[in-house]
Amino acid sequence: MTENKKRDNWGSRIGIIMAVAGSAIGLGNFLRFPAKAAANGGGAFMIPYFVSLLLLGIPLMWIEWTLGRYGGGFEHGTAPGIFHNLWRKNRFIKYFGIIGIFGPLVIFVYYTFIGSWTLAYSFFALTGKYTALTDQNSLRSFLSGFQGLEKNQYFNGIGTAYSFFLVTFLLNICIIYYGIKGGIEKLCKWAMPLLFIFGLVLMFKVLTLGTPDLTKPDWNVAGGFGFLWNPDFSALKSAKVWLEAAGQIFFTLSVGIGVILTYASYLKKADDVVLSGLTAASTNEIAEVILGGSIIIPAAFVFFGPVDIKSIAESGVFNLGFVTMPLILNKFVLPGLFGFFWFFLLFLAGITSSVSLAQPAVAFLEDEFNLNRKRAVVIFGVVSFILCQPAIFLLGRGVIDELDFWGGTFFLVVFATIETILFAWVFGMDKAWEEIHKGADMSVPKVYKFIIKYITPVFLFFILGMWLFQEWMPIITMKNVPLADKPYIFFTRLGLLSVFLVLVVLVKMAWRRRKLNFKEER
Ligand code: ALA
Repeated sequence: MTENKKRDNWGSRIGIIMAVAGSAIGLGNFLRFPAKAAANGGGAFMIPYFVSLLLLGIPLMWIEWTLGRYGGGFEHGTAPGIFHNLWRKNRFIKYFGIIGIFGPLVIFVYYTFIGSWTLAYSFFALTGKYTALTDQNSLRSFLSGFQGLEKNQYFNGIGTAYSFFLVTFLLNICIIYYGIKGGIEKLCKWAMPLLFIFGLVLMFKVLTLGTPDLTKPDWNVAGGFGFLWNPDFSALKSAKVWLEAAGQIFFTLSVGIGVILTYASYLKKADDVVLSGLTAASTNEIAEVILGGSIIIPAAFVFFGPVDIKSIAESGVFNLGFVTMPLILNKFVLPGLFGFFWFFLLFLAGITSSVSLAQPAVAFLEDEFNLNRKRAVVIFGVVSFILCQPAIFLLGRGVIDELDFWGGTFFLVVFATIETILFAWVFGMDKAWEEIHKGADMSVPKVYKFIIKYITPVFLFFILGMWLFQEWMPIITMKNVPLADKPYIFFTRLGLLSVFLVLVVLVKMAWRRRKLNFKEER
C-alpha cells in the first residue's frame, strides 16, 4: 500500500511567494473586502483593518511561515505533526492541529463551487448571455436561475452551473495532481501576473468614469474614494467593526487556515521566511486595498450614490459581484470584454486560492500515511467531491453560509490562537525568534517580539471572547435561521462534526503507525 518517497519542494523563491500570494489573493480581496468595507461604513472600517493587519495578520504570517518550514524539517506538512513536534510532552496537542486540515477542507467545499460561477460568468460575458440585462431584477433572476434556485427564462435548472462546477473541480484536482512545483507553482507564476493586468485594466476604467449623471455631481470617483478612505474615528468604539475587520484580515491573508503552514513546509531549512512572508502579505494587500478597493466601491458609488452603496453591500457578497458589478459593466462600451476581465480575474483569484485549500488534506495523506501523490489526490478528490454536493444542491438553505461560518470564520480565530500560544509560549519566544531568523534576508523589527508574545494573543483572546459573548448562543440555538432551513443546518453541523471525527481517527491511526515503525516515540 505504501512506499517511501521524497517530499516535494518549491522550484524557486519567486515561485513560493507567488503561490502564497495566490493563496491569499482570492475572492476575499475583490468581493468580501469591498462588501465588508462598504457595509461597515467605508472609512470606519479601514482603521481597525490596518491595526489588525499589523497586530494579527503580519505576525501570524511570520508564525505560519516559520512553523511550516520547521515542520517540513520533520517531514510534517500539516498542523497535527507540527504541533506534536512543538510540544512532544503533550499527547493531545496533535488533535488540535486537525483544525488546520478541517478548516481548509470545509472552505474548499464551497469555495470551488463559487469559483466555478466566475468561470461560467466569464463565458457568459464573452457570449453575451447577460450583457443586455440592464436592471437589478433581471440580473438577480439570472443569478438565481443559474444557481438552480428558480427555473426562469434564463436557465432551466442547475445543469449549467453543475457543468461549470465539474470543469472547475477537475481543474483543481489536475493542478494538485501535478504537485507543488509542477502544478501549483506553475499555475501561480502565470495566473498572478495576468490577474494583476486584468485588475489594473478594470481599475483604470473605473478611475476614468468621471460623473456619468450630471444631475448628481457628487456621485463621482473621488466621492467613492472619500467614502472608503475618510477616517471615522467614532467607529473605533464598535466591537462589531473590529471583529469584521480582524475576520477579513484572516480570510484575505489565508492565515489561521493551515494552508501557509503546508506551503511553507516545502521550503528548505535555510530558505528565508521573513522577507518572503512580508512580500507575499504585501502583494495581497496591494491586490486588496489598491485593486480591490478601486473597482467595485468607486464604481458603485458613481452609479448608485452614497446611500445605496451601503444597502447594496449589505445585500451580500454574491449580489455585489454577480448582480451589481455586471449591471455597472453593462453600462460600459464593450460590456462583454469588461465582464470577461472582471469574472476571469475572479476565476484566477479563486483557483489559485482553492488549490491551496486542498493542499493540507493531500499533504496529510502523503506525509502521515506515506501515500504517493496520485493516491492522496484520488482520495482527496473523491471525498471532497462528495462533500461539495450539499453546498451545491442546498445553497438556498443557507448551507454555504454555515460552512463559511465554521470553516472560514470561527475556526480561523481558534486555530490562530492555538498556533500563537504554541509558538510564543510553548516553543518559547527566544527560540521562536531564532527560528524565524534562520536564513533570513532581513531582521524582523524588534517590537514584533513583544507583539507576537503579548499583543497578538491578547487581541485573539479578545476577539474570541467578544464572539462568545455576542454570538455564541444565537448561533448554537440557530436563532436567526428560518424554521424551514433548521433541519438542513442541523444536518450540515452533524456532517461537519463527522468529518472532524474521521480526522481524529485518522490522526490516531497515523500516530499508531508511526509508533509501530519506531519513527517517533508517540
Ligand atoms: N485568502 C483567500 C481569499 O481571500 C481565501 O479569498
